[in-house]
Amino acid sequence: MKITITPRGFTKNGMDYIRLFKEKGYEVDYNDSGKSYTREQFFEHCKDADGVICASEKADSEFFDANPKLRCIIKFGVGVDNIDVEYAQGKGVFVGRCAGSNSRSVAEHAMTLMLAASKNLYDGIHETKEGNWKKFSGFEILGKTLGIIGFGAIGKQLANIAKGLGMNVICYDTFPINNETAKEYKVNVASLDEIYETSDFISVHVPLNDETRNMISLTEMKKMKDSCILINTARGGIIDEDALSVALKEGIIKAAYFDVFTSEPPKWDEELLKCENFYLTPHMAASTKEADINCCRMSTEIMLDRLGDYL
Ligand SMILES: NC(=O)c1ccc[n+]([C@@H]2O[C@H](COP(=O)([O-])OP(=O)(O)OC[C@H]3O[C@@H](n4cnc5c(N)ncnc54)[C@H](O)[C@@H]3O)[C@@H](O)[C@H]2O)c1
Repeated sequence: MKITITPRGFTKNGMDYIRLFKEKGYEVDYNDSGKSYTREQFFEHCKDADGVICASEKADSEFFDANPKLRCIIKFGVGVDNIDVEYAQGKGVFVGRCAGSNSRSVAEHAMTLMLAASKNLYDGIHETKEGNWKKFSGFEILGKTLGIIGFGAIGKQLANIAKGLGMNVICYDTFPINNETAKEYKVNVASLDEIYETSDFISVHVPLNDETRNMISLTEMKKMKDSCILINTARGGIIDEDALSVALKEGIIKAAYFDVFTSEPPKWDEELLKCENFYLTPHMAASTKEADINCCRMSTEIMLDRLGDYL
């Protein structure tokens, strides 16, 4: 039985689990190249695998057709938008993910972006490094309203952090948030329109799918306060990037801080990147030692649970 492990984070933090797989009799192909695999390398290393633990490589119909032995594919993370789940399941392949593994890391990153925005942190550091002693006037986040769209693992962690900092938190999720949960997290449940119209910060934490693609476009941005700051640490494409560039240029909203982009890395001449009130980190919200360790453990447990019987 062969297991292919593509994430570099697994090689860095999960050698004990690789040894465990080997002790249990599995052949393990893991990524010690220090780089992410290209599509060709992904196909080459996954050839004849019974199980795959993958990063963000595209596992589409072509991939599943090329790997008829495959029984199980597990995302080393949470978002499975790089995997054609329906096609995989149609071929009898189990699709797993490490739910909750990186929720604290991503929530901390979202809060870091909000604090950076409120204190003009990037511009202040940049100007000083450029030799300009220029003061920017910021604002406190105490008492400000944070609208969270998607109240799952990350949304809940973010609510906890925001409440600790004295913010007013309102939330929306398609899965109804009951009174007990709202009370536990000290949040108020709101409609999407209430979130758009009253929030000082809006942070999205929904998966990317047909329903959420471009769910925040110009119509929604026009409902927001012109002081509103949009945070996206979920997936590129949930917030319409063309509309955002118009909204930022025309002052419809104040700023946007993203960790994710529709094309990663982005095309460097994108209109949005030229906006001085748009800030982007390179999809690194979940890149922490703790999140990697969680993913190593969870993906191993799921893999052994799924393939163990076949040893
Ligand atoms: N930047 C990063 O490195 C990074 C890391 C981890 C996760 N993510 C992204 O964050 C997303 C959320 O992660 P999570 O762990 O909180 O997932 P989760 O499954 O725990 O929560 C997602 C929540 O979104 C809700 N939802 C789905 N569709 C919705 C809609 N149309 N409107 C409102 N709510 C909706 C779901 O009911 C669920 O409660 C992931 O799908 C992933 O794409 C990004």
